[in-house]
Amino acid sequence: MNMVMEKRNFAGEQIAVSETVNDAFLSVRDIHAWYGESYIVQGVSFDIRKGEVLSLLGRNGAGKTTTLRTLARLDSPALSQGEIWLDGEPLHTKKAFQAARSGVQLVPEDRRIIGGLTVEENLVLAQVAGNKGWSIEEVYDRFPRLAERRNQEAVTLSGGEQQMLAVARALAREIKVLFLDEPYEGLAPVIVQEIEKIVGQIRDLGITTIIVEQNAVAALRLSDRAVIMDTGQVVFSGSAQDVLDNAELREEYLAI
Ligand SMILES: Nc1ncnc2c1ncn2[C@@H]1O[C@H](COP(=O)(O)OP(=O)(O)O)[C@@H](O)[C@H]1O
Ligand SMILES: [Mg+2]
Repeated sequence: MNMVMEKRNFAGEQIAVSETVNDAFLSVRDIHAWYGESYIVQGVSFDIRKGEVLSLLGRNGAGKTTTLRTLARLDSPALSQGEIWLDGEPLHTKKAFQAARSGVQLVPEDRRIIGGLTVEENLVLAQVAGNKGWSIEEVYDRFPRLAERRNQEAVTLSGGEQQMLAVARALAREIKVLFLDEPYEGLAPVIVQEIEKIVGQIRDLGITTIIVEQNAVAALRLSDRAVIMDTGQVVFSGSAQDVLDNAELREEYLAI
């Protein structure tokens, strides 16, 4: 059963703003989050089923990154209200390191490649925590480009290769949910296609994923569902196809 709350947009049309799925794997329930005195995430709710890919979209400053940071339980922003459940476990009571142990993995926008280390050293360090996901050899099988550059200093990789390494590091740990913050940002179109292939592989492996992207069409093509945010609130929640098919919605909230 799906429960969809209806709300009207400025044109008087009904848009779905909150969708509840009864077999949710990750459930975000009315979360509110603050950077100091700044009220940023203002009552966001959505659900993801196991193995689904969800596009979290919206204009610059809409609160997408802040939402991902809240879900990953980083100290900032502060969560003041609401609940987050992953596979039956509460995340809202956890700190970032505990959420990470529970299988939450955020790949931030800046990719956080560790300077002074080779590609392989970056991968080995990702596994130190003990909960191992892909082995180094499995990573190399799926990312041949990283295998070729295993002894190269990671900071000397191209932008696309750094993004591959950031994703590979995430998958070198045993994870339940992957958050990708603007994985295509700053990359040439041909490289975006390569990263898209990798995201497609991640989807095919059944890893539950949230993609935040300015390149909404590229993200939607790989997604099952979409949530659009505006000024810290959810303004649309539905299937990815609904957004691809709805030019007005895209124009109003995504400027495409
Ligand atoms: N560290 C911070 N301190 C205070 N305000 C912030 C901070 N980071 C982001 N913001 C503000 O929060 C709002 C949402 O930002 P963000 O979540 O980064 O948006 P998006 O990722 O959708 O572009 C913006 O108004 C931004 O200026
Ligand atoms: Mg952002």
